[in-house]
Amino acid sequence: MNYIGISAGFHDAALSVIDDAGNVLFAGHSERYSKSKHTKHLCYGLVEDAISYLTSRDVEIHYYERPWMKFLRQVRSGEKPVLSNLSVKEIIGTGLLHKLQDGRKGKVHTHNHHLSHAAAGFQTSPYDDATVVVIDAIGEFDTISIYNAWYDKNGVAQYKKLWGQRYPDSIGLFYSAMTQRVGLKPLDEEYILMGMAAYGKSNLSKELKEMSDTLIRSYKDITFKDNLHTGVPDTFLEGADNMDIACGAQLIVEQLITSVISKARSLGSSKNLVYGGGVALNCLANRLLGNFYDNIWIMPNPGDAGSSLGAACLGYGKRVNWTNAFLGYDISGDYPTNRIIDHLVTDKIVGVASGRAEFGPRALGHRSLLADPRGQEIKDKVNEIKRRQKFRPFAPIILEEYADMYFDMPRGFDNSRYMQVIARCRHPDLFPAIVHHDGTSRVQTVPNDGTGIRELLEKWYVLTGCPMLLNTSLNIRGEPMVNDRKDADRFEIMYNVKVIS
Ligand SMILES: [Fe+2]
Repeated sequence: MNYIGISAGFHDAALSVIDDAGNVLFAGHSERYSKSKHTKHLCYGLVEDAISYLTSRDVEIHYYERPWMKFLRQVRSGEKPVLSNLSVKEIIGTGLLHKLQDGRKGKVHTHNHHLSHAAAGFQTSPYDDATVVVIDAIGEFDTISIYNAWYDKNGVAQYKKLWGQRYPDSIGLFYSAMTQRVGLKPLDEEYILMGMAAYGKSNLSKELKEMSDTLIRSYKDITFKDNLHTGVPDTFLEGADNMDIACGAQLIVEQLITSVISKARSLGSSKNLVYGGGVALNCLANRLLGNFYDNIWIMPNPGDAGSSLGAACLGYGKRVNWTNAFLGYDISGDYPTNRIIDHLVTDKIVGVASGRAEFGPRALGHRSLLADPRGQEIKDKVNEIKRRQKFRPFAPIILEEYADMYFDMPRGFDNSRYMQVIARCRHPDLFPAIVHHDGTSRVQTVPNDGTGIRELLEKWYVLTGCPMLLNTSLNIRGEPMVNDRKDADRFEIMYNVKVIS
């Protein structure tokens, strides 16, 4: 049996496949194939690729939410629900669904939205039991869920909900509303708002007080004075500096998340935290989790796209064999370590498109633009290629055993293999390109796991004495990450930077 998990119909459509031994055969994002960023539609290329990894004629299809529950919420909240969205077949597209089911039994199952998030986290985690916290914008009616999770004597994952918050009281909707308020795109550019926070005034700012007094009813219960689903009026905090708004929003979100995690610690029976939902991508806030838990797992794709894997996990039922996030489209061949090093030595910057694409929003070394992180000029050079806001720093990728030497890793995080958390850089003057305005870096640590990126860092260290590289995603501005060699060729031509496969 193969379990096909699907998330689609809202944003970030994705598809995952698990076999009946718990191996993740494939997990990929539709946007990487269709080139339409955050697309809600599954596309033909993704489905074809996923089918090529199937190992059984027997398949079950597991959809990441229950369309009728979402429909009901949309009716109740005065949104304009589309009748055709009541059917998984119509959401996915009859043609694509038939293609996945072709000659196979292919029964379609639907799951609770937050439970799909929880399963994506818990069943990929190393823990036998955990307290699972899900925080996102909205899933059906849910906005926050806390579960006890464990495996029964047959190894089947069990979830017991301990506490929840419901629409419209939502941490994710609050952060998206503030994203929109500063002129960024909600459900897309929240990470930019997070980056802007470092430039805002401290928590004594009048913007923060006004934002908090106007919008927050209770930090303890996570309730709001307004429904923020459609944002705040443009006149809200009129005249305020966008950086101060960002700073205020981040501080409020951190206080709300702290309140949820504190609740989880007191209600849950486990010492292990599994954290998921789109809000878990806020790597600045994640530094606070260690105040409550020593063991923390955030899977590399905690948002709705990752819930395609969660839905497949619910179908499979047991713990999956998690190795790493390289689960998507394959550019086959050995990782080109020596050629990358040669280019780094001569040009300081090089692209790499090799192996299976990352499942998740972050480039982890298979679809990356890499650079020598040392010195003053490299940030501007990479920015020239990426053409993004100059205030945003790039991320370091470092041999895991050297992370403590260069970064003050926050409590609860011995590692950060999927860039889940920020850490204070101990030598910001030596590596200005990978350090943010507040002195922190979004660290990716690489264990001794036999991957190509590990071998590359080891060789780079032997050659230079520096155990890290600058790592940013390989994408043409405004497009999703590079997927195949054709995309890599377009990148090369557009930016005159070598991309090695
Ligand atoms: Fe969600």
